[in-house]
Amino acid sequence: MDDFISQSVEQTEEFAEDFSKNLDGDEIIALYGELGAGKTAFARGLAKGLGVEDSVSSPTFAIVNEYQGDYPIYHFDMYRIESWNDLDSIGFFDYIGNGVMLIEWSENIEGALPDDVIKVHINKTPIENERIIRIEGF
Ligand SMILES: Nc1ncnc2c1ncn2[C@@H]1O[C@H](COP(=O)(O)OP(=O)(O)OP(=O)(O)O)[C@@H](O)[C@H]1O
Ligand SMILES: [Mg+2]
Repeated sequence: MDDFISQSVEQTEEFAEDFSKNLDGDEIIALYGELGAGKTAFARGLAKGLGVEDSVSSPTFAIVNEYQGDYPIYHFDMYRIESWNDLDSIGFFDYIGNGVMLIEWSENIEGALPDDVIKVHINKTPIENERIIRIEGF
């Protein structure tokens, strides 16, 4: 898939909303990008595209937020996850295959991701509000 250049948070959300139409309901989507890159914005648009009306924010303290749209959606923030033990204790592996998983800070759980993961890289550019979004594995 070609890189998408987003010029605003709204464009990032709309891009994710459109992308959601390709999903079958059991995908694992790993989100990569620095603080404030737009991972949650992407998650918000994707959830909206799947019919979620709840507000979507970073599940930093909860580790995982669940939404019900066309499919169950599990939105993780792995910022504080450091080990397989941590992953096990949040029941991470039980979620696989049971809904769409959206994973912020996937860098921290790289070794635990299955081969068929969809990777979404969101990178800032020198231009304010511009982001380059690259989707791999889809
Ligand atoms: N093109 C853009 N796409 C997405 N967000 C943008 C864009 N331009 C500016 N922003 C701003 O960048 C911020 C992105 O915040 P968001 O919470 O989505 O980032 P995040 O990657 O989830 O950060 P964190 O690691 O803290 O969870 C918002 O304040 C948003 O308004
Ligand atoms: Mg976030």
